[in-house]
Amino acid sequence: MTLAPANPAHQLQLTEDGQLKHFLTTEGLSKSILTEILDRAESFVGIEKQAVKKVPLLRGKTVVNLFFEASTRTRTTFELAAKRLSADVLNINISQSATSKGESLMDMLWNLEAMASDMFIVRHQNSGAPHFIAEHVTPHVAVINAGDGRHAHPTQAMLDMYTIRKHKGAFENLSVAIVGDITHSRVARSQVHALRGLGTEDIRVIGPKTLVPSSMETLGAKIYHNMEQGLSDVDVVIMLRLQKERMNSGLLPSEHEFYRLYGLTEEKLAFCKPDAIVMHPGPINRGVEIETSVADGPQSVILKQVNYGIAVRMAVLSMAMSGQASAAGLSDTTEGVE
Ligand code: CP
Repeated sequence: MTLAPANPAHQLQLTEDGQLKHFLTTEGLSKSILTEILDRAESFVGIEKQAVKKVPLLRGKTVVNLFFEASTRTRTTFELAAKRLSADVLNINISQSATSKGESLMDMLWNLEAMASDMFIVRHQNSGAPHFIAEHVTPHVAVINAGDGRHAHPTQAMLDMYTIRKHKGAFENLSVAIVGDITHSRVARSQVHALRGLGTEDIRVIGPKTLVPSSMETLGAKIYHNMEQGLSDVDVVIMLRLQKERMNSGLLPSEHEFYRLYGLTEEKLAFCKPDAIVMHPGPINRGVEIETSVADGPQSVILKQVNYGIAVRMAVLSMAMSGQASAAGLSDTTEGVE
């Protein structure tokens, strides 16, 4: 299901003077905003080495985690990010909430707003749900998309961009391959938008015909159905899992066949540049899209991605709060750390 928006997300998520006030999509974001997120994240990475892993930028703010779909990495790193910014954090257990008694999504949110919430972090199975919420919340409340249907997962894409910049430097001359179930991947779409925005020209999507939509070409990616050709001399390879929960039957002959053709083994990794990095947003399925020795090998940065996710989410939360303050004409208490 897709909820039809009244305003394009890239307009809705920015203030009149171009600051981030919600974070719904990487589509349409300027290079300067994308770079600001990465630079601000850089200022937060050292915090976990401090004796007290906190800065006061969101002190007094209330952040509500609303996860209508399962999550390990995104939910916990958003919670840690908000706590490291000194916010109060509420984790709503959706299965135990009054939505099970028929309460609508917006009634639930307006009740949470009545408790003086400042930010909703939303993961939802329906594409467009965070956008819909951002159109209906009280103006000072920020909405952050933590993954909606097949549409977008913008903070995952930005922690991936942070990881790429950390290991490879500038984006302009990189070759990046995204491999697997592209059709059902909100991560792939957000990555392609972010890579394009940051200046990467050579973006490749690789997978079986049933799992790579032709619309990826419109977004600026080249389509490959063969790993040897698609991985040839790439700097970065990003593996994706098969999203069986979003698939109709018949898209794959078998997992075994998928692994044989598209699973990242040491043999296939050798098609990439020798110093290529291996990424995966998680959760990984060993022996389905990636071989254990590659997932845990010297070129893998998969667990670094998870760690960088905290700093990137701190950056997004603090920028959105700052944008909301600016939109309301209030003084900003969330300037970057010194
Ligand atoms: N990458 C990602 O979204 O993982 P989770 O589903 O565990 O949040």
